[in-house]
Amino acid sequence: MMNAKIKTKFKFQKKDRVTVLTGAGISAESGLKTFRDNGGLWETHQVEEVATPEAFEKDAALVWRFYRQRYLQLADVKPNPAHFALVDLEKFLGDNFTLITQNVDGLHSKAGNKNLIEMHGSLQKCFCLSCQQKFLMSEINLMKKVPSCPVCKGDLRPDIVWFGEIPHHMDEITLRLRHTNYFLMIGTSGYVYPAAQFVQIARLNAAKTIGINLEKPLNSSLIDEFHQGKAGLFLPKLIDCWLNKN
Ligand code: OAD
Repeated sequence: MMNAKIKTKFKFQKKDRVTVLTGAGISAESGLKTFRDNGGLWETHQVEEVATPEAFEKDAALVWRFYRQRYLQLADVKPNPAHFALVDLEKFLGDNFTLITQNVDGLHSKAGNKNLIEMHGSLQKCFCLSCQQKFLMSEINLMKKVPSCPVCKGDLRPDIVWFGEIPHHMDEITLRLRHTNYFLMIGTSGYVYPAAQFVQIARLNAAKTIGINLEKPLNSSLIDEFHQGKAGLFLPKLIDCWLNKN
């Protein structure tokens, strides 16, 4: 497996626009749980109890316990070779590279990606339900069951896009998808919309689509070239091929 020869029919040029969508699978090799695999987060937690606005209204302390724990866990988590490979890709493509992530773990930033859209928010941030001001988690008193705003004392909530809410930066994402030459999706099951639809939008606009995933995602029929395996293993080798480095 380690020496498996990777084959791809694509080569990227500097003028190519490449849009990448990542999901929880890219962070699995950094030690973070995915959502829907065996032992994933949605096996041990009920989505409707921790990831909806209604859940926060019903029991804000429970929701905070879930996100506080996930935030604190990040201190020990490091990017893996798949994250770093995307930094190499961005260095080659410059502004023609866009990284859209559903992940809230901040590992793409930690690795060094700049042109990054965190469509489901960030575990590093929260905002006040009263005055709407945003804060870094590191700036607030996390000891309180429901942390309060340092400015107006209103209730803070994690800056996470919950089920039933509209993801961040959708206009910019749509624009990028319309003008991309290649669309890559990595480590995402294809269950959650609107992200699961991006591959279709890119394809309708004549982009070539590529997938890397441990298991076939739900929307795999829309992928032109699929690589089944671990992102940390496959992505660095694929990027070397796409950039003509071997
Ligand atoms: P999922 O947990 O639904 O899917 C993760 C995918 O990654 C699965 O298809 C796995 O087969 C694959 N995978 C696991 N390990 C991998 C590895 N080492 N390399 C490559 N692939 C691997 O996670 P997402 O698709 O990201 O939203 O889930 C989408 C959204 O659903 C999340 O952003 C989250 C969740 O509810 C919110 O919390 C708002």
